[in-house]
Amino acid sequence: MTPEDLRQYLRFYRDLGFEEVYHREPPPQPVVALPDQPSASTDLFSDLMSNDPRETLEQIVADLGACTRCRLHQGRTHIVFGVGSQKAKIVFVGEGPGADEDAQGIPFVGRAGQLLTQMIENTATREGLPLKRPDVYICNVVKCRPPENRTPEKDEMETCSPFLFRQLEAIRPKAIVALGGVATKALLGASTGIMQLRGKWHDWRGIPVMATYHPAFLLRGYNAAYKREAWEDLKKVLHYVYG
Ligand code: URA
Repeated sequence: MTPEDLRQYLRFYRDLGFEEVYHREPPPQPVVALPDQPSASTDLFSDLMSNDPRETLEQIVADLGACTRCRLHQGRTHIVFGVGSQKAKIVFVGEGPGADEDAQGIPFVGRAGQLLTQMIENTATREGLPLKRPDVYICNVVKCRPPENRTPEKDEMETCSPFLFRQLEAIRPKAIVALGGVATKALLGASTGIMQLRGKWHDWRGIPVMATYHPAFLLRGYNAAYKREAWEDLKKVLHYVYG
């Protein structure tokens, strides 16, 4: 861990209301070891032996193509499809790309993304899990940036969410985390607000869904108190997925 990582880690827990930090030796052991990356030969073998009818993420990207199915394509620089492994055990679903994501073509790379990465990695470290951002899959309900970062319209969500659903079916993770009201509504179809739905398990086609706050919401100073709840939600997910 670099000094800057350590500073960010401490800042994160200070914001959660922790006032004292103890140094523990030796570092905590994983509750359950995370699977190693399969070697190329194992992958090839399982690909050859598998009858798995699931689509690959590459097939979905190919089908999406240079999408013009809704008006959001007009202002985009990049389609922001998703990032991470098809074998991820947890998928995080956000709302839609912002300016940084549109510029880079990668979800959650701006300020909200940095907070999301910290939340994932710091919570995992604290729970003794060697989980890093590349171990999870991250994507959004809509894949092109809405102008001025406005909330995606109903028809834009209806046009784009089938691609999200195909990503989720391709991955079939052990758990999905819906970040904020838009992702929660897209997955659960619920009209209930995020305040009521967060912190509880829901279901999307047989996969447990944890609804929690969107990191951009947590970045607004007056909402910092909700960070602790988001952290509790994430802890529930990690305990469920990794034992
Ligand atoms: N907010 C989102 O919902 N998604 C991103 O990718 C970035 C910010």
